[in-house]
Amino acid sequence: MLSLNDISPILECIVSFIEEGVIIADMKGKVLYHNPAAAQLLDQPVDRPITSLNTIGRFNFKKRLLQAAIRAGNADAAGRPSGKFVRFEAKIGAHNGTRVIEFNSGLVTLGDGSEQLRLVLLSDRTEHARLQAVLDNNQHPGILTRDPSMQAVLARIHQVANAQAAVLLQGESGTGKTQLARMLHTLSDRSDKPFVEVNCAAIPDTLIESELFGHVKGAFTGATQNRPGRFQAADGGTLFLDEISEVPLHLQAKLLRAIQEQAFEPVGSDRTQHVDIRIVSASNRSLRELVEEDRFRADLYYRLAVIPLQVPPLRERPGDILLLAQHFIEELAKRGYPGDIRIGDEARRVLMNYPWPGNVRELENAIEHGIICAVDKEIRTESLPQDITQYSEQPVPALTEDPEEAERLAIKRALAEANGSRSVAASLLGIDRTTLWRRMNKLGLR
Ligand SMILES: Nc1ncnc2c1ncn2[C@@H]1O[C@H](COP(=O)(O)OP(=O)(O)O)[C@@H](O)[C@H]1O
Ligand SMILES: [Mg+2]
Repeated sequence: MLSLNDISPILECIVSFIEEGVIIADMKGKVLYHNPAAAQLLDQPVDRPITSLNTIGRFNFKKRLLQAAIRAGNADAAGRPSGKFVRFEAKIGAHNGTRVIEFNSGLVTLGDGSEQLRLVLLSDRTEHARLQAVLDNNQHPGILTRDPSMQAVLARIHQVANAQAAVLLQGESGTGKTQLARMLHTLSDRSDKPFVEVNCAAIPDTLIESELFGHVKGAFTGATQNRPGRFQAADGGTLFLDEISEVPLHLQAKLLRAIQEQAFEPVGSDRTQHVDIRIVSASNRSLRELVEEDRFRADLYYRLAVIPLQVPPLRERPGDILLLAQHFIEELAKRGYPGDIRIGDEARRVLMNYPWPGNVRELENAIEHGIICAVDKEIRTESLPQDITQYSEQPVPALTEDPEEAERLAIKRALAEANGSRSVAASLLGIDRTTLWRRMNKLGLR
């Protein structure tokens, strides 16, 4: 039988080949040994060995270890990790994107019991985390679209999710800005930190400063105790400032400084607080126009709009109307409404022709109305809300008396609106693709 001493060169060889990272450190965190995999998992250049546990990744190793120990009930009375092995995951920014690394760490006592060393084992959990995110996403379906301009918005959101830069979402009410802001946070490496929403239009001017930055006891009448604000609540995560255009001018300078320097003073206090926050804001009014009218500070606008995204109104993405209508029928079925509901042909046409001033939110409500008022499990025109049916009754100015010519015009218009896509044009017209193809043939439109 070989002794441990004899096989130690073999063990070292094995450790240098395995995919798991191995780090051995002293009790102070000074690294005594690590294998090549550890350097690779931590994205450390080969020529710069890891020297201290306190400088690995971009997170606080000691703090995360203690948190994990406390969670596992392995902290001693003085609040120190007991030394038993505990595990935690951390995100590491690497040259090839963010990696999720699992750490297992505990103390190992050497031979005679006089010395203890810290052993850290690392493994790559990135793929697992990705799969989990996909699964989670399917449970909370986010943004549904087949419209190219909306797909471009989604692609951009994926692209910028991990950046620190501020994102400004502009678009009409109900187009999905709040949903997109949440999606951005979920995709970012801040997803395990808070997403805090502030609707600036819903808070009276006089309270907005204290809502955002908090206040100290006695700062104003009614401030009976210290209260942290939303900036504090969002620390480490994302702060979503909805209807940002409604922030009063006199507060915009303080907001700008808070975003720029990630620092602010609560109302009534002169102690500066520091935070680490990603700002996403939204507006249904054009901030640029407000800047031109001197109603919004230009410097704040540029700070908020590092990545500006325009969310198109529903009427400009006709391909989404019936897709979302069907989606809402399924969603509402989960909430107890009957699921086997069809949308009648005439109602489809009405939905396609309506301009949707309230966008997706209005469509969602219209479908709920339609299901409640369905006839024989079919949403008919008369099942839809009055605003929509009345709109469809407005006479369309007749361009021609000739029905064939009228149809030819309608098809041409639909094709133009659909950028030449026949399936989108067909859904715009409320007919299927083969019917469109047949009629185009008949009318000599090829
Ligand atoms: N593309 C989409 N797919 C599925 N649901 C959507 C989509 N866009 C918006 N919604 C839903 O429509 C409603 C309005 O969206 P929201 O994000 O609140 O709009 P906004 O913030 O622009 O007013 C929400 O219930 C949202 O879940
Ligand atoms: Mg919103």
